[in-house]
Amino acid sequence: MCGIVGYTGKQQATPILLDGLSRLEYRGYDSSGIAVGSGNGIEVVKAKGRLAELYKRTGDRPEGTVGIGHTRWATHGAPDDANAHPHYSQDRTFAVVHNGIIENYLELRAFLSERGFTFLSETDTEIVPMLLEYYYNGNMLETIIKTRNKLKGSYALGILHAGDGGAFYALRKDSPLVIGLGEGENFIASDMPAVLTHTRRFIIPDEKEIAVITPNGVTVYNRNQEEIEKEIFVSDMSAADAEKDGFAHFMLKEIYEQPGAVKKTIHDRITPDGIRLDRVRLNGAEIDKVCIAACGSAYHAGEVGKYFIEKYARLPVETDLASEFRYRDPILSKNCLTVIVSQSGETADSLAALREAKRRGSRVLAIVNVVDSSIAREADDVLYTRAGPEIAVATTKGYTTQLAVLYLLGLQLAKDRGTVSDREYDALLGALKTLPEQLNRFIDDVNAQAQYLAGKYYPASDAYFIGRGCDWSAALEGALKLKEISYIHAEAYAAGELKHGTISLIEKNSLVLGIATQNDLREKTLSNIKEVRSRGAAVIGISDNPASIAAECDDVIALPETHAALTPVFTAAALQLFAYYVAAARGGDIDKPRNLAKSVTVE
Ligand code: F6R
Repeated sequence: MCGIVGYTGKQQATPILLDGLSRLEYRGYDSSGIAVGSGNGIEVVKAKGRLAELYKRTGDRPEGTVGIGHTRWATHGAPDDANAHPHYSQDRTFAVVHNGIIENYLELRAFLSERGFTFLSETDTEIVPMLLEYYYNGNMLETIIKTRNKLKGSYALGILHAGDGGAFYALRKDSPLVIGLGEGENFIASDMPAVLTHTRRFIIPDEKEIAVITPNGVTVYNRNQEEIEKEIFVSDMSAADAEKDGFAHFMLKEIYEQPGAVKKTIHDRITPDGIRLDRVRLNGAEIDKVCIAACGSAYHAGEVGKYFIEKYARLPVETDLASEFRYRDPILSKNCLTVIVSQSGETADSLAALREAKRRGSRVLAIVNVVDSSIAREADDVLYTRAGPEIAVATTKGYTTQLAVLYLLGLQLAKDRGTVSDREYDALLGALKTLPEQLNRFIDDVNAQAQYLAGKYYPASDAYFIGRGCDWSAALEGALKLKEISYIHAEAYAAGELKHGTISLIEKNSLVLGIATQNDLREKTLSNIKEVRSRGAAVIGISDNPASIAAECDDVIALPETHAALTPVFTAAALQLFAYYVAAARGGDIDKPRNLAKSVTVE
């Protein structure tokens, strides 16, 4: 989604803004622009397409030591020069960058049009600089407050005003924004990696607070216009975390980082006395239902969690796509634990699901990667996934670390409820402890095979991923990985469901990936593999017992021996690598697939 960066200090703003924008590219965008302030007013340069276009147009200009920049992911209006941000006010004394959606923009546009304002873009954003111009009374704080009070929807805003020297302004509601603190220079950004080369010290403004940012300081005002002290957050991320480290793509680097990320996520949470879930206030015995709401891959992680929690903690688990959750009138109570899973912690639908769950009296536990993100802050409890920054749009280590936390959570609930035997509990904890090392070896081993299989199957136009139980959940994630980066049409089906319609699509050389890791379901899945193979499909089998399915498959990926409940982690790694190499063979933009955004901050 849109990315924002802002700078004020002694250096020229343009190169710093362009560098910041390049570090936000991963969020997904289709145009970009900057606005720089100097004694001559504000100059805006913007361009449709990749940042390279903006670089061409800027050269060394505009000159000035304060500025704001933006990468736009189009929502209102086509991705073109006119709709790209920053947007000027009519008299060009204001320039604004925005992430989010102003829901009442049509009403405000009419209001402003009646008062003589002419709009140059189709965006919802352009009403903001126009409102600022309309309300401007010489006092910027009052002007911003009057403007803010008119806005409905979500926003992170960077505001530049001509004649304010080195000052610029920022505020947010339901969209992410951080303020970076330097020495004699200060920054804003949609997320920390954009400015990590300059600072690791951040202020995170709360909803509707207004920040005045100058080279020598940042002043934050609360909703009542009172100046407030903000806590300074020191990030433990380094700029190197956001570099490719010799890998061809961030996605490949992040696939390889999974063992370390999983280890970091679980190691101090498994103690000699059992599981310790940070400071989470959890009593499994008092919970009567778990609801998991999330989007995309995080939802798929929730699906794996559902099988695990139901099996071991004997609690009913409902899983919802967060975008559906709040509109289905969910039945929640204080004994229901709602779990929101999100890598970014900023996904608009997941945040809305969290608020809905709280409104209905449910306790909310968030499983989140980005520290201090909106979801982390609003949940009653948080378990961080500790995957480190994930730059590739397609999640990999974000997903597997979510699985790791869901396993710990499920096991703790099972322990609290007395639904797991000591033997099973120890076996699962033991398997979890060895998971990072096993995963490390597996990724090294399976990499060459994934490359070979990609070389063989990359021309496929469709792919079907089938499995039963948690293998079906793993299939959902495998299909998403393949389609989002290779653009091959891919679907996941519960293996037993295929013959209720979808099997009619299977013909000679259709690609099917059959996942069969669960002993009690293996024979059933094998029958489904036979059904598609007898209709001409080419089958890649995936199993921890490869011999049991080899005769019915064209190729088999062998998973290591592990506890049956943990196989989705290995399946994920194998399918991530397969998707990666297929996409590489087809020549896609792997880290930034078309139309996608890393952090989906609009509904
Ligand atoms: C797919 C992917 C997305 C995200 C989804 C939720 O590879 O990354 O499907 O999983 O957009 O994002 P978060 O986890 O940030 O809430």
